[in-house]
Amino acid sequence: MNHFHYKNGELYVENVPVGRLAGKVGTPFYCYSTATLVRHFEVLRDALAGLDATICYAVKANSNLAVIRTLAELGAGADVVSEGELRRALAAGVPPDRIVFSGVGKSKRELELALDKGILQINVESDAELEELSQLAAGKGRQAAIAIRVNPDVDANTHAKITTGRKENKFGIEWTRAHQVLQQASRLPGIEVTGVAVHIGSQLTELHPFREAFRRVRDLVLMLKADGLAIRRIDLGGGLGVPYDPRNENPPLPGDYADIIRETLGDLGCQLVVEPGRLLVGNAGILVSRVLRVKEGATRTFVVCDAAMNDLVRPAMYDAYHEILPINEALPGTELLPVDVVGPVCESGDTFARQRGLPALARGDLIAFATAGAYGATMASTYNSRLLVPEVMVKESVFAVVRARPTYEDMLALESLPRWMHQPAE
Ligand code: LLP
Repeated sequence: MNHFHYKNGELYVENVPVGRLAGKVGTPFYCYSTATLVRHFEVLRDALAGLDATICYAVKANSNLAVIRTLAELGAGADVVSEGELRRALAAGVPPDRIVFSGVGKSKRELELALDKGILQINVESDAELEELSQLAAGKGRQAAIAIRVNPDVDANTHAKITTGRKENKFGIEWTRAHQVLQQASRLPGIEVTGVAVHIGSQLTELHPFREAFRRVRDLVLMLKADGLAIRRIDLGGGLGVPYDPRNENPPLPGDYADIIRETLGDLGCQLVVEPGRLLVGNAGILVSRVLRVKEGATRTFVVCDAAMNDLVRPAMYDAYHEILPINEALPGTELLPVDVVGPVCESGDTFARQRGLPALARGDLIAFATAGAYGATMASTYNSRLLVPEVMVKESVFAVVRARPTYEDMLALESLPRWMHQPAE
């Protein structure tokens, strides 16, 4: 459920009409709903009730400070994968002891920062990383709390680009070797083994891959405990999918996901960490855009809007489906015309939807790409020298610009011409 709905024929975010926001902020822009963020967090938290579970929000899904802060105020920790994300989580007030650092390629500087900040756990993904972390921590006289991320070799049945738990993927340590690596880790200076981590992929629409992966983790933890290793935390990653096409998609409910966790890992006496990203923020955001023109091609009609693949890359990158909502509600019985909705970027891949049935649209009309709260703004670029789009957060009847649109001066400010070139006249 989300808080984007039509009222009097117009799309609203909570109590604010999208059209009013567009008038104030200009298009394109991302818009997030606080009530939706809160609801999604609470649904998951309630589903996990009775388990010793911590929700560490995967900041990569949406790293706007206001989004992180909204979740942190509800008690969420953070899962971060870079120095930038760690700094964001801290700046948004996430306590260090609720931050997990994941990722296959952490730099020395990133590991040092994580140690200095005293975060909850570093998820180690290779023998070499373990070695480096041990030296760094020992050198600082610190103990690095670590989990070993295991690769359970389970097929998540999702898009190939976001599958992470197969043995041919770059992530984690083969689950068959994890036991040996953990034993070794427990003998290293500066290392405190706390547990095991796993993450098999994103946008999972079935539960059985989770069950399979969690069972493997269970077997491993039991084996480690039998060997006298104090495994006290299990990090289950994220990955639960959301309905992008509500008419045709029915991903599992958080309650059913929680039941799998309960069934496979609930009796081990370990603290559990989950790292949801998309589940918390996906349906809490839209990308609002204005139609620039409608172009009749040789075989089809193109609706050219002012948002492009650089603002929301998911359709171009993963052939992802995003529902397109006209801001002015189509009355029942309105004829839907098949159109291609495209952006202004100079690539045919800059296509949001092909032959999508939409009510007749005209220059100046506003549309919204739904379910754009996750991996929308965070994956945006300035390709074609387009400015990053602003982000707006709504709470009931009020809104705030939580990231401003940069200026063209900002865009040029970090670049300079080397001295050997003639400087162009002002
Ligand atoms: N934990 C780890 C270690 C991860 O790598 C990820 C996502 C998550 C948690 C959060 O997964 P989620 O709950 O959001 O599925 N850009 C892609 C998704 C990439 C996901 C990468 N890792 C997309 O737009 O679909």
